[in-house]
Amino acid sequence: MRKKVTVIGAGNVGANCALRIADKELADVVLVDVVEGVPQGKSLDLLQSGPVQGYDVMLTGANDYEPTANSDIVVITAGFPRKPGMSRDDLLLANYEVVRAATEQAVKYSPNSILIVVTNPLDAMCQTAHMVSKFSKNRVIGMAGVLDSARFRTFIAQELKVAVENVTAVVMGGHGDTMVPLVRLSSVSGIPLSELMDQATIDRIVDRTRNGGAEIVKYLKTGSAYYAPSAATVEMVESILKDKKKVLPCAAYLEGEYGINGLFVGVPVKLGARGIEQIYQVKLAAEEQAMLQKSANAVKELVDVIRQKHG
Ligand code: NAI
Ligand code: 2OP
Repeated sequence: MRKKVTVIGAGNVGANCALRIADKELADVVLVDVVEGVPQGKSLDLLQSGPVQGYDVMLTGANDYEPTANSDIVVITAGFPRKPGMSRDDLLLANYEVVRAATEQAVKYSPNSILIVVTNPLDAMCQTAHMVSKFSKNRVIGMAGVLDSARFRTFIAQELKVAVENVTAVVMGGHGDTMVPLVRLSSVSGIPLSELMDQATIDRIVDRTRNGGAEIVKYLKTGSAYYAPSAATVEMVESILKDKKKVLPCAAYLEGEYGINGLFVGVPVKLGARGIEQIYQVKLAAEEQAMLQKSANAVKELVDVIRQKHG
């Protein structure tokens, strides 16, 4: 049977997710948005790219959830993006309402799906989707670490003038200013970063990675990044649909791992047909663990607000 993916939010990230899923022929796609005509128009436009691009999947647009029934994966991108000067956290309450409503509807029609959350503030929105869906923790996954690591890899490759495919980098923690780019675990074809760059250069790249989203918001002025975010999301979709079991940094619900309990935080996970099939506990140095804990504390502040609202 053909796979089916619902993408909620037919904006910049959502529409590009639909495009990339179609381009890779991973699944039929249903785009859902509150704005009348937009998901219908964009999905028809994408469908008509098929003969030229050489893909053959069904793309449908809707303002309700009935057409989404029995989706294998639901990607939640609905919400408001950041504007210049706005932190991801400013989005908290507005996007809480959006993700709550979207999750409620989506899981009613696709009770066996896997949820991939993209909406910001990411880790708190994962918590919202988890609380509302009541899905087991392996079926609620946040996209951030793949994007943040891609940015880290890009900047390392640019600096060293090497092929980006040779660069391995890991970013853990929440998707915010406190994220934790792990220099010790990053390398170029196995050569540790610390042997290739001086500390000042590493610090500059780490800082640019932490502010990678804001750098793009500053350029765009009316919204945030979407090409790399959609590519990162679709890497996760592909790993699940094809049961590839890729090991990727994703926001996962932690129950004691890394000393963190009851929160979504970015950590390396195995992504397969059952969603998160394993959480990897890397031995961290004391300083790295402290940074991760600080990042988890920042996530907790937002989650406490949401827990109060959720009741
Ligand atoms: P956008 O504004 O282009 O698209 C958002 C879409 O959501 C709009 O079409 C809007 O009509 C729709 N929407 C609003 N309320 C809705 C509802 N209740 N049901 C269905 N659709 C609804 O924004 P963009 O750039 O696509 O970003 C979407 C979200 O993803 C933002 O919260 C942004 O901050 C976040 N994001 C997260 C990233 C990550 O790394 N986790 C990376 C990039 C974006
Ligand atoms: C990003 O990192 C806005 O969270 C989004 O680009």
